[in-house]
Amino acid sequence: MEFIESFDLAKLLRVADPRSVKSLRRRVMSLCEYRSSGVCVNIGRFESRNILIQGMKTSKIPLVVGCAAILVWGAGGATAQSESKTDAFAQNQRLGRGVNILGYDPIWRSRDQGRFKAGYFEKLKVAGFNSVRINLHAFRHMDATNGLKPSWFEVLDWAVNEAQQQGLAVILDLHEFNALGNNPTGDNKEKFLAFWRQVATHYQYAPATVFFEVLNEPFGKLTPELWNEFFAEALGIIRKTNPTRTVIAGPGQWNQIGRLSELRLPENDRNLIVTVHFYEPFAFTHQGASWTDRKDKLGFDWKATPEEVAALNRAFDKADAWSKANKRPLFLGEFGAYDRGPMESRTRWTAAVARAAEARGWSWAYWQFDSDFILYDVKREAWVEPIRDALVPKAPPAG
Ligand code: BGC
Repeated sequence: MEFIESFDLAKLLRVADPRSVKSLRRRVMSLCEYRSSGVCVNIGRFESRNILIQGMKTSKIPLVVGCAAILVWGAGGATAQSESKTDAFAQNQRLGRGVNILGYDPIWRSRDQGRFKAGYFEKLKVAGFNSVRINLHAFRHMDATNGLKPSWFEVLDWAVNEAQQQGLAVILDLHEFNALGNNPTGDNKEKFLAFWRQVATHYQYAPATVFFEVLNEPFGKLTPELWNEFFAEALGIIRKTNPTRTVIAGPGQWNQIGRLSELRLPENDRNLIVTVHFYEPFAFTHQGASWTDRKDKLGFDWKATPEEVAALNRAFDKADAWSKANKRPLFLGEFGAYDRGPMESRTRWTAAVARAAEARGWSWAYWQFDSDFILYDVKREAWVEPIRDALVPKAPPAG
């Protein structure tokens, strides 16, 4: 195996057949730590050469193979998928405390308009978070044949690489629940499967700290029964290129914690993490939220009364019993209380939910960094400190 320090991506692209440049560039970017200067820095061992030489002029193959041999995914210390520990419970510990990011960021339209900056990954790490869940509204970035545009992959590769460099685990969460819940047939189903065909191939050599979440909150016409079929089909596609990738999926009806028993999982695939979302009591967490029927209903508190705490524990205990009986780890992929609620109640609730998950060994991801339910105020460049401290409590003073 040949190792060199770095190579010039532009040079590599110049020797490629022009017809394959786009897809080659995309693949290279998924395999290396890409710098804007076009230099790809070597950080480990490359696993398969074939992916890079597909579609290239035969006479140029030796040069490309030479380059390919130095490529690898991920940041220092990250292990490639095939070498990784794929015990789903251990993987779930790596998710630890996380945050949902980028779902509604204009960065997907244009990098210049991005609200989320590279430095935020470091801020998250320093604040004590372990992972990010990247919410992907990908269908609008597909071309007429459902191909994901290279510009979309560029943004995603950037985010994944930056997160991994900070040692944050990454979840790629397909967030097209509205499209599929409203119409799960025809083109939307095609798009759903096309997404996983492409994303799974693109990230097949990513380290084990990159997780795939098949679909956020199936609901509506994507009934729990139909969702079980969709999930099985997508998992089949993913497993062709990612036999050891840890995959995440949750129950139908909005990933509701009470619907776990309706989720069908393949018995012999143990590398799955099951996700649930928790926004109870809804009247409290969604007060004033324009996209719900709580738009004009404000003034709800959560005081951690014995009844309120007991309701939280009941819901979590039931899910935990399911987890133990089915030997599947749980990830609380979304929870949060909307910005228009009283801050004291919001932080009380947020801390109680996070601690309740941790007490049962679940991982979690707060909804969300920016946009609404905010954890970080991009305009002021400052944490929303009460929420941050509720999520990651300060260590008690020594002594
Ligand atoms: C949706 C958001 C919504 C949040 C809480 C998420 O899954 O993508 O639009 O704000 O749930 O309701």
